[in-house]
Amino acid sequence: MTTAQPLDVQPTPLALLLLGRDADPSSERGVECPGDLPAPSDPDLVARARAAKDKLGDRVFVLGHHYQRDEVIQFADVTGDSFKLARDAAARPAAEYIVFCGVHFMAESADILTSDEQKVVLPDLAAGCSMADMASAEQVAECWDVLAEAGIAEQVVPVSYMNSSADIKAFTGRHGGTICTSSNARRALQWAFGQVDGGDGKVLFLPDQHLGRNTAVRDLGMSLDDCVVYNPHKPGGGVTADELRAAKMILWRGHCSVHGRFSLDSVEEVRARIPGVQVLVHPECKHEVVAAADHVGSTEHIIKMLEAAPAGSKWAIGTELNLVRRLANRFADQGKEIVFLDRTVCFCSTMNRIDLPHLVWALESLADGTVVNRIQVDAETEHYAKLALERMLALP
Ligand code: 13P
Ligand code: SF4
Repeated sequence: MTTAQPLDVQPTPLALLLLGRDADPSSERGVECPGDLPAPSDPDLVARARAAKDKLGDRVFVLGHHYQRDEVIQFADVTGDSFKLARDAAARPAAEYIVFCGVHFMAESADILTSDEQKVVLPDLAAGCSMADMASAEQVAECWDVLAEAGIAEQVVPVSYMNSSADIKAFTGRHGGTICTSSNARRALQWAFGQVDGGDGKVLFLPDQHLGRNTAVRDLGMSLDDCVVYNPHKPGGGVTADELRAAKMILWRGHCSVHGRFSLDSVEEVRARIPGVQVLVHPECKHEVVAAADHVGSTEHIIKMLEAAPAGSKWAIGTELNLVRRLANRFADQGKEIVFLDRTVCFCSTMNRIDLPHLVWALESLADGTVVNRIQVDAETEHYAKLALERMLALP
């Protein structure tokens, strides 16, 4: 019998295995749960959630992102993609508590867009986003210095994906940029390029290189050569000043660990397995996957396409599994065949952190007068992040 030897590697502070334990102030997530959760096997959880929600009445408004589990989504007052949920949160000034069933950056955005009196609660603080963690405020400030040294900072407008921390949104607001989501990225880029006179504007797109590249190439007709990738882990971003000066799109080297799993092989395999299948993917997928797909769109767009699809049509969907499974069940009796694009299971592990025990705990605590897991962005960050978010909400 052999004994396990300690590995000669340092665990990354952001490792998924550490989720829910300890605190990591530089991470978008990863703080332990401060309360006693009901057991997931408790058969009364549904009744308890309903009772706590009824007791709170109009004082609480529950938002649910499409990637949430069914056990949670059943209690959402509204469901949506990150753009719709940001708008819905802002449109509920009467609700004292906003319970956000989604991930940390979405709850931060809700806090920024709601009044100071409203309290935003994230049922599990470990529900972060690995993509958002790929761009820290220090790294982005360093990148801006690199752009200034290359002599192009004046021409660059930052466009940050909603999937970023409040700090990154504030950086974007401070530097005249906007936030975007997967449903308005094209309009956000058009707006950003229009901000610089003479047609020599550039965009620094954070933190999802794939959404940035896919939108630039598919929607704005740029070539792949118009894009460079800035790697925050390499000196100077791993690109030369000449490369930065020649580029129109400077893409941050970040990605979604869920959508990044879909490959060209998955597309070819499903086409061979299901003749006539239409492949519909989220723009966080790699460019080669998006290029091989039949349709591309945000979660809200995917749902609308499937609602409008004729009976008998066949679909392979490249997005998070909770949503795909829900859509497959919803449309099964309309004769629409919907499968997950990949052979392997692919949930978003951090979205899945919000489960019924955490929701019950959050709702019951609020009903008892205790605000748990409040997400509160500091005033200065909020000011600049709001500028960037409001620019997004005002996009034509
Ligand atoms: P949307 O909600 O904008 O479609 O984004 C998907 C996603 O990855 C959310 O985390
Ligand atoms: Fe982040 Fe991807 Fe999960 Fe969305 S699906 S929360 S981008 S890791």
